[in-house]
Amino acid sequence: MEQRIAVTGSTGTVGGQVARILAAEGVPLILPVRSPDRAQHLPESIVRQTTYADFDASAEALAGVDLLFMVSAAEEADRVATHRTFIDAAKEAGVRHIVYTSFLGAAPDATFLLGRDHWYTEEHIRRSGMSWTFLRDNLYLDVVPALAEDGVIRGPAGNGLLSAVAQADVARSAAAVLRAPDAHVGTAYHLTGPEAFTLAEAAALITELTPATVRFEDETYEEALASRAHHGAPRWLVEAWVSTYTAIARGEMAGVTPDVERLTGRRPLSLRDLLTAKS
Ligand SMILES: NC(=O)c1ccc[n+]([C@@H]2O[C@H](COP(=O)([O-])OP(=O)(O)OC[C@H]3O[C@@H](n4cnc5c(N)ncnc54)[C@H](OP(=O)(O)O)[C@@H]3O)[C@@H](O)[C@H]2O)c1
Repeated sequence: MEQRIAVTGSTGTVGGQVARILAAEGVPLILPVRSPDRAQHLPESIVRQTTYADFDASAEALAGVDLLFMVSAAEEADRVATHRTFIDAAKEAGVRHIVYTSFLGAAPDATFLLGRDHWYTEEHIRRSGMSWTFLRDNLYLDVVPALAEDGVIRGPAGNGLLSAVAQADVARSAAAVLRAPDAHVGTAYHLTGPEAFTLAEAAALITELTPATVRFEDETYEEALASRAHHGAPRWLVEAWVSTYTAIARGEMAGVTPDVERLTGRRPLSLRDLLTAKS
């Protein structure tokens, strides 16, 4: 019997790409969104309104769904609680399998602080009794150029390596899992790019391939907190941002895996590929 698929986050980048890939193949989708006025209108798809933290609306939005692609929520102080509510709503609605966008190296003691949220979310899914597949994405390649502020990528990353992955490869990998979910039950994929690079190398490549001139500046942890103070963000968020760099320094975002190619049948995009395509 054909599974009924819901894709969340379809008003955003990754969820939107996943929804478009599957809709173009004629797969009927349910699209739970926060703002129906910004929803994509795809052939055969049904838009339903909810937000993860609303248990009743989410259970209603997921009624009749067998297979759920769950994009992690936007960063917030109690993101794990928000995720747990949505997972509980999925269980209540009768969802049988969740495919969740986690983070490379998700662990309760991950240096990248948001990687801890992802581990606790994974844990809640593992204990839910539903089948699961985790897509543990590395940092998105697409955000690497945006790390620069005033032409400088600054942070305590040292010479650490980063095997960032393109959002397009995450979306293609997700679509591959959603097409044949039973083959991926109980598997965590580690989605990385084809190579690892230092932030100094990334800055040099951005300078070579785009109109921007960018350099990397290593910072101490304290300097990194101070250089981000002007954003006025809460302390936990600033620490989370800075932990991206300390995780890179410790080699926790460096691993290159064959998982994207195994799932999609094609070599993942490199930073050069991405910058060349955009320029
Ligand atoms: N690996 C990385 O480098 C990296 C970087 C940034 C983010 N992330 C994580 O990866 C996720 C997907 O990335 P993306 O680039 O596709 O993000 P995005 O473009 O910001 O899209 C996020 C999607 O999730 C929806 N969403 C967020 N919080 C929600 C909530 N509480 N309840 C219901 N829907 C919610 C958003 O809805 P609205 O349109 O209503 O906001 C949007 O559709 C992000 O949400 C974030 O958790 C990873």
